[in-house]
Amino acid sequence: MTHARPTSEAAQKHAADPYKWGAWAVAIVVILTPPALLGTVRSALPRPEVSEFEVAAERLGVHPGAIELGRGTFLDSCSVCHGHDARGIARLGKPLRNSEFVQSHSDDEIYQVILTGRPPTDPENTTGSAMPARAGNPSLDDRRLHNVVLYLRTLQEPGAPLASLDDWVVAETADAGGAGGGIGHAEFVASCSACHGASGEGIEGLGKPLANSPFVDSKSDDELMVFVKSGRPIWDAQNTTGIDMPPKGGNPALSDEELRKIVGYIRELHAGG
Ligand code: HEC
Ligand code: HEC
Repeated sequence: MTHARPTSEAAQKHAADPYKWGAWAVAIVVILTPPALLGTVRSALPRPEVSEFEVAAERLGVHPGAIELGRGTFLDSCSVCHGHDARGIARLGKPLRNSEFVQSHSDDEIYQVILTGRPPTDPENTTGSAMPARAGNPSLDDRRLHNVVLYLRTLQEPGAPLASLDDWVVAETADAGGAGGGIGHAEFVASCSACHGASGEGIEGLGKPLANSPFVDSKSDDELMVFVKSGRPIWDAQNTTGIDMPPKGGNPALSDEELRKIVGYIRELHAGG
């Protein structure tokens, strides 16, 4: 015996657990080592680049996720007419990158345009082509539309010149006659040209050419009316492209009178070559 016999209970405990402090030290080392190691490894790795969304989000004071979602909606629902890069597609959708309209209107005003669209009959319409309400996609909810407006804001490059509208804005007289105008052209543009092209020339991957179409040639006006009303879904044996031709071009509001004008217009396309 090298030390005195313990007397108090506490002292007894202490004597019973001579490794207590050692155990604490080990526990602390075990607990703190993994985070410390992780921290070291992380600081040694190259820093992830700050994404373009984060930069833009900081400029606008919003969450980067909102802009990313807006971009997704744009690519899904707007790029078919406004172009992948938002530089516009002549006669389909105007440029939205460095757009005078976007820069000179409030978020809410832009939102309203997307919500209600801008048909060729709208006095504000500048191109003779239709901007469909909710981009023609009723499933686009308000949150998506608000996010897409945020995304449009990020496409306004500071200091860049405004996009030219020369290829989009139609002169007052250009619509007065010829293959580009005439009866049924406005209706065709509003409901059909998004897929079939502004003059029925067809758009690869969207809609077949209607100018010089043997199908149009082989049908009477009434048969064409019936065809356009019912469309030609992918599963129809007659479908040649694997792409859907929606009933009335996806515009249920088209009246018989408008359809008749459209049929007259595509017939003329054929006759005129
Ligand atoms: C079917 C084609 C089409 C689709 C899809 C479409 N747009 Fe448009 N959009 C147009 C056309 C055409 C115009 C120009 C109308 C005019 O002549 O004023 C336009 C105009 C606009 C304008 C006004 C631009 C200006 O300079 O006046 C905004 C903003 C806009 N679109 C946003 C969108 C957004 C956002 C989406 C997707 C959610 C979308 N559009 C989907 C065809 C389309
Ligand atoms: C969303 C895209 C889309 C819209 C909008 C659309 N079409 Fe089509 N249309 C198609 C596709 C795709 C086909 C080819 C279907 C197939 O594979 O046979 C087609 C085929 C046709 C054909 C038959 C052509 C042929 O040679 O077989 C006619 C006629 C036609 N469309 C007229 C119209 C008219 C008129 C409108 C407007 C009221 C319209 N389409 C709107 C996508 C569209």
